[in-house]
This record gives sequence, structure tokens and C-alpha cells, in this order.
Amino acid sequence: MLRQQDVGHRIVVRRIVGIREGRPLFSDALGELVELSETHLTLSTAQGQLRVPVAQVHRAKRVPPTRRPTAAAVVALERAADEAWPAPTRGQLGDWLLRSADGWSGRANSALPIGDPDRPLPAAVDAVERWYAEQGQPPIINTPLPLAAPVGAELDARGWAARPPVLVQTAPLPLRPPGIAVGPAGRWGSAVVDLSTAPSAEWLAVAAGRKGGLPDAARHVLTAVGQVRFAHVYVDGALVAVGRGTVTGQGRWLGLSLIEVLPVARRQGLAGRVIDELAAWGVSAGATHAFLQVEQHNTAAVALYRRFGFATHHTYLTRVAPH
Ligand SMILES: CC(C)(COP(=O)(O)OP(=O)(O)OC[C@H]1O[C@@H](n2cnc3c(N)ncnc32)[C@H](O)[C@@H]1OP(=O)(O)O)[C@@H](O)C(=O)NCCC(=O)NCCS
Repeated sequence: MLRQQDVGHRIVVRRIVGIREGRPLFSDALGELVELSETHLTLSTAQGQLRVPVAQVHRAKRVPPTRRPTAAAVVALERAADEAWPAPTRGQLGDWLLRSADGWSGRANSALPIGDPDRPLPAAVDAVERWYAEQGQPPIINTPLPLAAPVGAELDARGWAARPPVLVQTAPLPLRPPGIAVGPAGRWGSAVVDLSTAPSAEWLAVAAGRKGGLPDAARHVLTAVGQVRFAHVYVDGALVAVGRGTVTGQGRWLGLSLIEVLPVARRQGLAGRVIDELAAWGVSAGATHAFLQVEQHNTAAVALYRRFGFATHHTYLTRVAPH
């Protein structure tokens, strides 16, 4: 059967989907294991997310990865993503990164354990705990999987909790035309997308609403990137949608973040327009690929990104030390 160490790996699950003439009917599913609890397991399959009650599982096992990115590719992308979301307070533990931003966002307030921490793993985790204690913050480690699976196993043993899995998704630029009905009739058709080098006060208010406040460190995270654009979408003079684009990783990677449409304006193609505009800017800035990070259970966003050709490159778990 499966264990927590299998999270982030490709598995096949044979499940019982019914009974016919007293005999069980089986169905097989193949995908990446993104979550494993006592009652359910969640697979990311080519057809989308599949949640299977453990009681229905007849057999499950790990299978070899297909087209898995190399470790070097995951490291390069994680470093480009770190550059795109820069924590103002930083430290290093060998190759590992230590990041702090007044607690604003998991990514900017977590250690990134990629490469060699220059000491045995238990001592490295101890050092992370000390560094965050010095910042007056809870220790958090962001584990890209399966690359950082050994770190994950050490944290399991220490009883660290895991936040919901995050998918790191990529797509080649230019993005695939999504075929979304954009610019529908009526008021949404008049939407204007404006890309600026700085966020407006209203833009920051939307980001604050999303991420819970906006300390000074947050402004640094959002703006301290050489190539960055803030998408503002106005309808009838009111800001109804936002997004952020960065180009990092030696100019290769367009990063999309903070894409948000006010509830009243959803399903009108506005997020699609934000992505279109940021992607066009990324292409003009020389980027060849796009990446983004999305929580696995954010089905609306995952569906949106799939329309543009985004696919999961790898996943990560945000691990939090027990109190
Ligand atoms: C995700 C979000 C940005 C989508 O914005 P939106 O303007 O409603 O999206 P669009 O109208 O451009 O949708 C384009 C396509 O995405 C998919 N999609 C968008 N919302 C969806 C939903 N709730 N359920 C299923 N598919 C959805 C559909 O394929 C849709 O095309 P269709 O309307 O022709 O079916 C919006 O729901 C939102 O702001 N959510 C909260 C913030 C958030 O989660 N942001 C993403 C962080 S990674």
C-alpha cells in the first residue's frame, strides 16, 4: 500500500467501482499522488483530479515516472520562481535558501531545500528551525517533490504538518490560444487591460484581501523584480481583475501570479484576457516559457490554466513545524 513518501510520485490505483454477479468490478487510474490521508487519496491524472476513498482501493503502487523533468530542471525553475517572489530577508544554508517576509505568503517565508545544505539532513532541519526562531517566525519548509522527498521524510518523522499540495505548472510561449469567448457583449466587453510597472493602490488592496494584509515586506516581494508588470482590468472605471507577470531565470521564465477576478465579474473571460496580455508582454521581453503555482484543489484556476496549455511540471508541499 501507499505511504506518505509516495506523495509527489506517479502511482497506479486499482479500485473497486462496483459489484456484478457477486464479483468486484475494477477500474485502474494512473497519475501523480498529490495527497494521502487516512480516508482518501488524491491523484492528479491527465483527465484532472481524482479523489478515491481508501476503502475503494484494491491495490496501489508506485510506477516509474514518464517525461519527468530532470532534477536540474526543477532546481532551475524553483530558483526562477524564488527570484519572481523575492523575500526581503534571506539567508543560506549551503545551497538551501532561507526566506522571510514578515510572514506574508508561504513561499516568501519558507526555506527552499534544494541542493546541498552542507551538513547532514537532521542538522540542516535543526538549523532551519533556529533561523526562523531568530526571525520570530514558525519554521516552514517548502518541499518540491519528488526532488525534496528525503527532506519530506525527515519532516514526517518530526511531525511537521503539510498544507494542501501546490502544482507548479508550465507551458511554452506563446501560449496556446485558449478558445475562450473573450469580450462578450455588454459591460464586460468594454474591459480594458492595463499593464503597468507598478501596482496601483487598488491593485494592492486586492492583493491584501487575497493574502491577508499587506506589510511593507509584501511590497518588496511584489515589486523588487527587475522585469515585472501589474495587470489592471477596468470596467466602467472600476478595477475588476488583477494579475502579475515577472520575467526571471536569465530571461527564460514568465511567471504569472496573483491572478484574481472579483466574484461579480467571473466567467466573462477576464482572467483569460489578463493571461493573454501578460503572456504577450513576456514574449516581447524574450521569455520562452511560462510558469505558475496553483493549489491542487483550486479547480477553477486549474481549469483556466489548462485551457492555455499549462501542465504540471512538479508539485510542492508547504511543511510547517509543530508548535
Ligand atoms: C480562477 C479565476 C481567476 C478565473 O477568473 P475568470 O475571469 O472567472 O475566468 P475566465 O472567465 O477567464 O475563464 C476562462 C475559462 O477558465 C475555466 N474556468 C474559469 N472558472 C472556472 C470555474 N469556476 N469552474 C470551471 N472552469 C472554470 C473555464 O474553462 C473558462 O471558460 P468558460 O467560461 O468558457 O467555460 C477566478 O475564479 C478567481 O479570481 N478566483 C479566485 C482567485 C484565484 O484562485 N486565482 C488563481 C490563483 S492561482
